[in-house]
Amino acid sequence: MKKIALALAAVAGLAATGAQAQNYPTRPITMIVPFAAGGPTDVVARIVTDHMSRTLGQQIVIENVAGAGGTTGITRAAQSQPDGYTIMMGHMGTHGAAPALYPNLKYDPTKDFAAIGMAAGTPIVIVAKKDFPANDLKGFLDYMKTNAEKVNMAHAGVGSVSHSTGILFNSIIKVKPTMVAYRGTGPALNDLMANTVDYMTDQIVNVAPQIQGGNIKAFAIATPERSPVLPNVPTTKEAGLGDYQVSAWNAVFAPKGTPPDVVKKLNEALVKSLDDENTKKRLLELGGVLPSAEEKTPEGLQKLVDSEVARWTPVLKAAGASAE
Ligand code: MLT
Repeated sequence: MKKIALALAAVAGLAATGAQAQNYPTRPITMIVPFAAGGPTDVVARIVTDHMSRTLGQQIVIENVAGAGGTTGITRAAQSQPDGYTIMMGHMGTHGAAPALYPNLKYDPTKDFAAIGMAAGTPIVIVAKKDFPANDLKGFLDYMKTNAEKVNMAHAGVGSVSHSTGILFNSIIKVKPTMVAYRGTGPALNDLMANTVDYMTDQIVNVAPQIQGGNIKAFAIATPERSPVLPNVPTTKEAGLGDYQVSAWNAVFAPKGTPPDVVKKLNEALVKSLDDENTKKRLLELGGVLPSAEEKTPEGLQKLVDSEVARWTPVLKAAGASAE
């Protein structure tokens, strides 16, 4: 008798979940952005969720939960109810580099999420404060040969994009500056503009407006081609450092166990947003790269996460990086 009651309860539960997924969403959705407001993750999240909210008929509310290179916010998001009402903007750091740096990371990027789709590719630019005593990459490398110990490099915490791409850059040019951690590269950029830190490797969507406005210097972009929004900034190859090629990406995830119908609805809303002319314009104006058709699918994103974890783990270990 007890067994039958339990079975009936399970069926009723499944039916309720199905019905909930059918009506989803019936209330606002929280998107956790694991860095400070105003930085690249936050900017990409606000651009894509603007249109997604209209498609879904419910507001996606951004909650900035910064700390530990993005892993604090992603841990919280991974452990929340998998009902579609808490989603997150992850990126190359939180879902690619972090496992190599945090031996006790409380989530596995390859297993603990329902991938929704990529939001934007974000090339990395090597930038410095306006008063830095060099005007190009060669001058910067010469200066660093004798002055690295008195130079500060800003980043968004161990495991973030700016940290892992910065560690890689420093290991290629063989320098060990003082590393200064922020809760995101939004606040780090403010200090770069105030001339209180010296340089960083950051996502183009954060730095392009300040480079265009002459408020900071850009030495090179780490992609094979120049960016249309920064036509005067040479590629690392043109600037003599072709070994440094790296791009980041930002993507939407939900906690593992989110019902497939909900994942489908979120994915459709994301794809619709990325097809919208205004969303595209806003991302492209900042130098963002629109995802390919495959990258926009949950399967394409899952494949990317698996390959990024496999790619970054040996790179960061070889560079001697660790959160400890
Ligand atoms: C990073 O370096 O991971 C990002 O720039 C974080 C942010 O959005 O501030």
